[in-house]
Amino acid sequence: MEFGTPLVEMKNISIAFGGVQAVDDVSVDLYPGEVVGLLGHNGAGKSTLIKILSGAYKADSGEICINGTSVTINSPRDARTNNIETIYQTLALADNLDAASNLFLGREITNSFGLVNDDAMEAETREIMARLNPNFKKFASPVSALSGGQRQSVAIARAVYFNAKILIMDEPTAALGVHETQMVAELIEELKRQGIGIFLISHDIQDVFKLCDRVSVMKNGQLVGTENVADVTEDDVLGMIILGKQPEKAA
Ligand SMILES: Nc1ncnc2c1ncn2[C@@H]1O[C@H](COP(=O)(O)OP(=O)(O)OP(=O)(O)O)[C@@H](O)[C@H]1O
Ligand SMILES: [Mg+2]
Repeated sequence: MEFGTPLVEMKNISIAFGGVQAVDDVSVDLYPGEVVGLLGHNGAGKSTLIKILSGAYKADSGEICINGTSVTINSPRDARTNNIETIYQTLALADNLDAASNLFLGREITNSFGLVNDDAMEAETREIMARLNPNFKKFASPVSALSGGQRQSVAIARAVYFNAKILIMDEPTAALGVHETQMVAELIEELKRQGIGIFLISHDIQDVFKLCDRVSVMKNGQLVGTENVADVTEDDVLGMIILGKQPEKAA
């Protein structure tokens, strides 16, 4: 699976909050078109690690490389400059606006008079949705009328439209039903085909086995290990999460 230069390398990342070592010398990486699952118990440090990549926190030590080049990410804006976008579980969508207005929120298309060009925005939204989620039809509805999975696809469309190469998804399927989870799974497959790399935080080990190429397991702020999903069983991964135990390798 892995060849060439990683999209993302987080090397020896540490951060403490007061006396709590939330992330302790953790290294993870991500290749184009790959989904890496981040697993671990509550408080293991998954969200904190990923917030360092999204610019919400600054690491006490360690290095981040994007496409092999060391970068400084001190703010969400720096993350965006590096084509990193985060899809939060609590999606930041404006409920009373439709899909197109949400997709372009803060970055509206304007005409030569400086007026917002709703038709152009809707046409662009229809085009990207036809690629990402062809079943999406609710272009005229406020997003408050959309299902969780449909809202998720609007958020993902926004990231992709603005050139995300690296997507961070923190518990994307946590609040979704079976059908909706399947919709997000199909979206993730499409994003992979486009060469986008995804860090996926999830507590659902079955989702992780279905969606991820590799898993990195954290426990008490430390990295237990990283494994190819194809090389381990669900029990192996549970052993890593619960006991911090390395899987036994077949000879
Ligand atoms: N802003 C903060 N201030 C103080 N402590 C924090 C802060 N953010 C996280 N922590 C602590 O850092 C540790 C790691 O938390 P983190 O949110 O990264 O865990 P997590 O693996 O994402 O857990 P969950 O599965 O519950 O989302 C925890 O002990 C948490 O209490
Ligand atoms: Mg978390």
